[in-house]
Amino acid sequence: MEKAKKIEKLEILTLGNELLRQKAEPITKINAEIGKIAEALLDTLYLGKGVGLAGPQVGLMKRIFVVHIDKDIPRVFINPSLLEISEDTVKYEEGCLSIPGVWVEVIRPKTLRIQAWNEKGRPFTQDADGILARVILHEYDHLEGTLFIDRLSALKRNRILAKIEKHQRV
Ligand code: NI
Repeated sequence: MEKAKKIEKLEILTLGNELLRQKAEPITKINAEIGKIAEALLDTLYLGKGVGLAGPQVGLMKRIFVVHIDKDIPRVFINPSLLEISEDTVKYEEGCLSIPGVWVEVIRPKTLRIQAWNEKGRPFTQDADGILARVILHEYDHLEGTLFIDRLSALKRNRILAKIEKHQRV
């Protein structure tokens, strides 16, 4: 009998946690343990009803993130490098599992080319546009300790931070 898959839900760190502001370290060996981490990240992503999740968001300071958009396949990016980003930009509404309840338009490059390894240790290059490019750039930022609110004007960011603080005080 096949063993039922255990669903693992990792705790998602939220705004204010210092780890979200630190740069993640490269993964030196892609082994079974990394495969398990990728699965746990995807499980946590599904339970949180998100489209992307990066290691630092669960306190894992390694260069790994997962993306799963609607009917697309789940994608795992390990030690990613952005090879190209377009000068063309696009404005699109964004949220983050680490900043729950906040949705705001963010300007980002429209298309990109990224190189990474998957959970099986296979290298790949991916061209992306639309929502996929958006989510990849958002998750890549997490590996650098950058949050989407950092990409807003100071005015807009302060307005959002004030709103979050107000909710937290209740
Ligand atoms: Ni995020």
